[in-house]
Amino acid sequence: MNSEIAPAHRVSKKKRGSNDINTFHSLFVLFSHFMFSMYYHRKRTSEFHEKGDIRMCGIIGYVGEKVAMPVLLDGLKRLEYRGYDSAGIAVVEDGCMVTFRRTGKIAGLEALCQENPTLSRWGIGHTRWATHGVPSEKKAHPHLDCRQRIAVVHNGIIENYRQLRKELEDIGHVFLSETDSEVVAHLLEGGGAPLQRIQKTVIKLQGSYALCILFQEEPDTLYGVRMFNPLVLGVGENENFLASDIPAFLDKTRKVVFLDDGDITRITPNSWEIVDFYGKQKTQATVVQIPWDPLTAEKGGYKHFMLKEIHEQPQALEDTLLGRWDLVNGRVRFDELEGFALGTVERIVIIACGTACHAGMIGKYMIEQLARVPVEVDYASEFRYRDPLIDEKTLVLCISQSGETADTLAAARLARERQAMVLSICNGMGTTLTRISDRTLYTRAGVEIGVASTKAFSCQLAVLFLLSLYLAQQRTTIGNQLLSTHIQSLLALPRQMNDLLKNSATIHELARQYYLYHDFLYLGRGVCYPLALEGALKLKEVSYLHAEGLSAGEMKHGPIALIEPDVISVVLLGKGIAGAKTLGNIEEIKARKGKVIVVSHPDHWGEIPLVEQVITITDTNKYLVPLLMIIPLQLFAYYVALEKGSDVDQPRNLAKSVTVE
Ligand code: F6R
Repeated sequence: MNSEIAPAHRVSKKKRGSNDINTFHSLFVLFSHFMFSMYYHRKRTSEFHEKGDIRMCGIIGYVGEKVAMPVLLDGLKRLEYRGYDSAGIAVVEDGCMVTFRRTGKIAGLEALCQENPTLSRWGIGHTRWATHGVPSEKKAHPHLDCRQRIAVVHNGIIENYRQLRKELEDIGHVFLSETDSEVVAHLLEGGGAPLQRIQKTVIKLQGSYALCILFQEEPDTLYGVRMFNPLVLGVGENENFLASDIPAFLDKTRKVVFLDDGDITRITPNSWEIVDFYGKQKTQATVVQIPWDPLTAEKGGYKHFMLKEIHEQPQALEDTLLGRWDLVNGRVRFDELEGFALGTVERIVIIACGTACHAGMIGKYMIEQLARVPVEVDYASEFRYRDPLIDEKTLVLCISQSGETADTLAAARLARERQAMVLSICNGMGTTLTRISDRTLYTRAGVEIGVASTKAFSCQLAVLFLLSLYLAQQRTTIGNQLLSTHIQSLLALPRQMNDLLKNSATIHELARQYYLYHDFLYLGRGVCYPLALEGALKLKEVSYLHAEGLSAGEMKHGPIALIEPDVISVVLLGKGIAGAKTLGNIEEIKARKGKVIVVSHPDHWGEIPLVEQVITITDTNKYLVPLLMIIPLQLFAYYVALEKGSDVDQPRNLAKSVTVE
């Protein structure tokens, strides 16, 4: 908290920007802005892969007639799904900058603010989820300049921050954190009007950023800057907002201006204006009326969280891969594993539940074939009661989205008791599993709300593949050339996933044809066998239909007795020998008049016997086939459930996190 008082002066209200509202035009603009920003965001994030940390964080700024603190806290809570390892706000009270920061969820920050209420009517807030490093109050935003008169919140990455920081330190600036964001606050110091200082600063920044800035010297005014990171302006009655995402303020106003890359906006309670980095006024900014209710907005316009999360997979995958590879030297990098004695590992035991276990089963193929280490996979609920044979040469790899699944936690504790090394692959930051484990490799899927796990699964597979390559490079079971090729295949996945997602309408049509059937068999071999289990699990969870995943080779040992015209077989044709062998199953099913939907890799299979439908994925290596095939399987489960009218996000009898045995 800072109590320095700066000379306060009020600025005159600027002329309001254009607020021409036309619903049709608005929706068009909304859509094109969305596509444009997706394009840029994706383009930029792929460029940043080599450089490091991109954060999934939330920004809120408020200036208006209400007391700012509760508005900021409320906005942060609505953005909490973007990240919650630390949060903070800054307001100006009686001419003095006041900041509050806390690690952990927003509730902690809220309690701190309640103990220290302020009446300020303008302020900024931030919720942070770092993809690297341990959360701390020092790293939490807002960051301040040396004299604590300028507060900045930032999403994105300042790529050239090391160089900028050195230049600033050389002329006497003192930094309080190691973050790249803090350089922005220091660059903003100096003479001139705040807007000019912002212009001088942004032209020095390289990277991606959305910024919200508060100058103690300029009351009732906030600034926002957007460059390759989302920032929207909410236009209210006697109040205006800035936020990284619309849900932050949608219960207060539905009028939104989507900022473009290269925009600087200045907002006061009754005015807003946009200029470019060189001060030129923007004349065509349009106010868009958002038709969503607040809940729909949190779903990003999708009808259900499950659908939103299916569509988020390309981005989640990009985030998960970030900073974990080095194409120039053809290496996989896991900073989290530095100094971890993996060299002594003789055996790996993967334990998990449900979807996470299916990811683990696919991981077994990857690790054994690439790194030549024996791998066993077990459901955590089985492992914990089977008196497992493990010792200090065993690596127990626990996989969990939530990090709070009771059986997985019990299994991890048992593994520790028996001296095994415990590594986890987890999505929940700072959760119990990560605290029990010796090391954690985070998936960076973002918050998963739909009960049926989707994006966590693909991110778990990506981390497993990276881990297989990491082990393979350590054990020299892979050559540099092949390693590079595999990394390249991994990096191509987000784009390939996007292409498959564009095909949703075909899958919806397929679901319309089949949602009235009652029995579905999913068949696969090799990596497609666990994928068959996952495809069936997705369908049964959300549509309540009978769906069974089977190893295709086991069909003739019993399950083939089930085939009849009303039974639908979903056959997953992977690469190589596994795919070739599965072709035989199709003939057997067709001969018994069963219906067949094929999801196929584009290998040349010759004649596929006459089947009801073939869905083809794009080409990738044999280990990564599941990451693409899962998209049509998830979409099929979703659309069948939709047609049946079930509660997709909260299916009956299920909970998102199974914290009891
Ligand atoms: C299926 C699903 C569950 C979870 C399982 C493990 O869609 O969500 O099968 O995968 O309960 O949960 P986590 O990964 O949180 O340990």
